[in-house]
Amino acid sequence: MNWKEIYQQKITTAEEAIKHIQNGQRVAVSHAAGVPQVCIKALCNSSDKFKDVEIYHMLCLGDGEYMYPEKASNFRHITNFVGANSRKAIEENRADFFPAFFHEVPAMIRNKTLKIDVALVQVSEPDENGYCSFGISCDYTKPAAECAPLVIAEVNKQMPYIGGDNLIHVSDLDYIVETDYAPYTLPAAKIGNVEQAIGKNCANLVPNGATLQLGIGAIPDAVLLFLKDKKDLGIHTEMFSDGVMELVKSGVVNGKMKTLHPGKMLATFLMGSKALYDFVDHNPDVEMYPVDYVNNPSVIAQNDNMISINSCIEVDLMGQVVSESIGDRQFSGVGGQVDYVRGASLSKGGKSIMAMPSTARGGASSRIVTRIADGAAVTTSRNEVDYVVTEYGIAHLKGKTLRQRAEALISIAHPDFRDDLLTFYRKKFG
Ligand code: COA
Repeated sequence: MNWKEIYQQKITTAEEAIKHIQNGQRVAVSHAAGVPQVCIKALCNSSDKFKDVEIYHMLCLGDGEYMYPEKASNFRHITNFVGANSRKAIEENRADFFPAFFHEVPAMIRNKTLKIDVALVQVSEPDENGYCSFGISCDYTKPAAECAPLVIAEVNKQMPYIGGDNLIHVSDLDYIVETDYAPYTLPAAKIGNVEQAIGKNCANLVPNGATLQLGIGAIPDAVLLFLKDKKDLGIHTEMFSDGVMELVKSGVVNGKMKTLHPGKMLATFLMGSKALYDFVDHNPDVEMYPVDYVNNPSVIAQNDNMISINSCIEVDLMGQVVSESIGDRQFSGVGGQVDYVRGASLSKGGKSIMAMPSTARGGASSRIVTRIADGAAVTTSRNEVDYVVTEYGIAHLKGKTLRQRAEALISIAHPDFRDDLLTFYRKKFG
């Protein structure tokens, strides 16, 4: 049988496909903008037919209907990253969070620490050899589809086809639901004066020829704005968004100096506008790999001059970085932050940057603090932190004593909070 015949035999409707999910099973769903929207809707529409189905889903875009209170006995969300639509469910104990480095998730799936019974994924249309692409969500999605005993795939005409290690053959799919809808997009972040100042300070730490990892949001987008005069930058990152596309178009990002995968932009998932999805579709310069490759610190480190730029919630005067919780409230997750801090630290010429506004809550609290909030989780330890950047400047902490770290951090704190920080400093260090 050729692949086209195999494909035809597997076509079904979303309503029929989800009937193969059994009560008590764990379903892994494509990450972030890759959500298989038609099957998730079908699942929610017939929620009364399901009991105790666990849904493993990292960042869940969309309305997260399966987490609604009235569906609590049908579905339970488990995740290692909390987003806007799962935060309430976690706080109200209708969903569960587990701490884990992103790059370790595929191994946990393979060795069944995180056992997956069903992979519910979204893929592109097949190529001429019968391979579909996981498109903008490769991360844990491809490993889950390789390990799960049952694979239900939405083949979406509008999912971009992206290569790398990002393909699955139609013969490895159990049920195919043909769809045609636009994957979720992200609005551009709002960049104000504070973000611009942070972006400028970060850009000063980026040499020509560097390879970059940037996260999502206003700060990474602001950094990109100040890289327009740099030369020969490369991309090896967990995810990227529209700003990177602009730098490729202007010739600043060309991957010429990359020491690993020269000329290629590597990522494990993407979120951005429709223009970004069109840009990556069948683009030979963009390659997606599972997260245990892209985010593996020893792989990241093979890029010389690796610069990682991430954000955080607060930093204490020793340099302990809290990035995922506000007090004991789980706000997000470690994601790839520590993977890249470690990778950049091992890279020849590498640097890792924590970039944050100096204050939070409209200026009411300092993000540079004497002690981290009660119950907060340390994401990047004081032993691993390298540069901390605010709109007031750059504090280089690696190799510095506790006294020097405190001085450097106070010098980039918001002026309104420096006196309080100095009082603590004088008490501690005399
Ligand atoms: N005290 C109290 N509240 C705080 C706070 C603090 N120290 N720091 C932040 N907040 C509040 C903000 O006021 C804001 O509240 P609002 O939504 O009501 O306005 C909210 O927390 C989010 O803060 P903000 O800094 O605007 O968030 P962000 O969208 O820029 O994300 C992180 C920042 C740190 C949450 C995010 O970068 C993250 O999750 N990092 C960890 C994972 C990671 O680094 N991934 C990248 C690898 S690719």
